[in-house]
Amino acid sequence: MKAALLVESLTGNTTRAAERIADGLTQEGWSITGLSRVRRPDLASIQQADVVLVGSWTHGLFVVGQAPWAAAEIANLPTMRGKRIAGFLTYALDAGKSLDRLSNALGSTGAEVIGGLLIKRSRIEEHSDVFVERLLGAVETV
Ligand SMILES: Cc1cc2nc3c(=O)[nH]c(=O)nc-3n(C[C@H](O)[C@H](O)[C@H](O)COP(=O)(O)O)c2cc1C
Repeated sequence: MKAALLVESLTGNTTRAAERIADGLTQEGWSITGLSRVRRPDLASIQQADVVLVGSWTHGLFVVGQAPWAAAEIANLPTMRGKRIAGFLTYALDAGKSLDRLSNALGSTGAEVIGGLLIKRSRIEEHSDVFVERLLGAVETV
């Protein structure tokens, strides 16, 4: 399988998660077509990919108003009909409904949403590995 990664990261946590996910998938025999920003997506890498993985971070007031950073840009990614898509969201304490918001935004790209996971910033390695495992499972069952 081929995966493209699109990431928004302010302080590096989401990039770390993306790199761990890319490593995990590579070890499973996947190839990574590219890693670029949601706001400046590498369109060629998306075109070549079977699965697009979108990572962002949680922005809010910690107890209310949480949303994925760059949610509007995620929803406005190029149409990806025929591709599969999954999202991951790093957070510190409480991500509220931001994962649902991310999934909704991903769905509006026209791609088939096959997964989404919250990654706590204090447990990036562990949760990124769970994301990889679930993704492998989701792709197998499609
Ligand atoms: C302005 C701002 C608002 C944030 N709001 C929340 C929040 O509402 N809930 C939460 O769990 N984490 C919140 N965080 C923490 C980030 O989501 C978390 O540190 C994330 O891993 C940052 O990812 P990055 O290092 O890729 O930028 C906030 C961080 C910032 C800078």
